[in-house]
Amino acid sequence: MPRKVILDVDPGIDDAVAVAMALFDPRLEVLAVTASGGNVAPEQATANLQALVGILDPPRLPRLGAAPTDTSWPAKPFNMHGADGLGGIDLPRARLHGGHASEKVIWETFHAHPREVTFVALAPLTNLSRVLARDPAIVEVVGEVVVAGGTAHGVGNATPAVDFNFYCDPQAARHVVREPMAKTLVPLDTTGHVTFGFDLLEQLPRESSRAGAILRAMLPHAFRAHRQLLGSEGISLHDVVALVAVTNPELFERSTVAADVETGGELTAGMLVVDRRTVRQWRPNLDLLTACDTAAVKDCILRGLAAAGAGT
Ligand code: BDR
Ligand code: CA
Repeated sequence: MPRKVILDVDPGIDDAVAVAMALFDPRLEVLAVTASGGNVAPEQATANLQALVGILDPPRLPRLGAAPTDTSWPAKPFNMHGADGLGGIDLPRARLHGGHASEKVIWETFHAHPREVTFVALAPLTNLSRVLARDPAIVEVVGEVVVAGGTAHGVGNATPAVDFNFYCDPQAARHVVREPMAKTLVPLDTTGHVTFGFDLLEQLPRESSRAGAILRAMLPHAFRAHRQLLGSEGISLHDVVALVAVTNPELFERSTVAADVETGGELTAGMLVVDRRTVRQWRPNLDLLTACDTAAVKDCILRGLAAAGAGT
């Protein structure tokens, strides 16, 4: 039985790669893909998602959610994804069916399949937090939540201590982390261990496939941005590693921890705080994926990309 998922994304290059892989993975039934602001403004995130799914034309079309436009975001410290979020590839706009708000799509999808749906958060946690705020009882029907966010050892990317997703909406991150649902956090330190060199560009699906054309257009920008902004020759695809944590959890080391999110600190807003005292005072509330088999995860990603290319 394929696993039912909602992908919540702010595309973003790594989000887009994760969407392409997930839509052609027979182990997943992608019921919905919902947009959020983050890497790009909400309107752009929605447009990117619609264009991506329209071009990929997967065998089974998920419901799509539009990002809320009444949100405000802290200043972006830098931009890894280009002005349009997808490395400036200028995807033709496509307006797909629906156009309902992400919150509505998430709420309806959880209720349509009580306790069966995994929410895969690859963006700031704004959408899920808003659903929880409107209907706190929804926790009863949520299956599991897997989040790309937080840092286990306090080394961030948006700020010294905070990853981009938690940085964008610390209150939402705290809200979700505190809710009584099954949660798995794939922190930046774990996703960041999986890096790809330039040889990735030679291993992408053929240009004539739809997924191949998008990936081949988008990923060179990721290499340029990593070199110019981070001084790194390799690239990380954080959201893609988080997706592999859903499809191949056996490749990750897991530790159940008691954690919360700082919301007020001038330097630390959005920081994941884990109670590591010898005598723990907080209750365990989530699973933290502390490490992974990087070679095996890379292998899964390459196979996932090939499958996306073969499907299109
Ligand atoms: C997160 O930041 C974003 O830029 C990526 O898409 C990923 O979701 C990693 O901190
Ligand atoms: Ca993202």
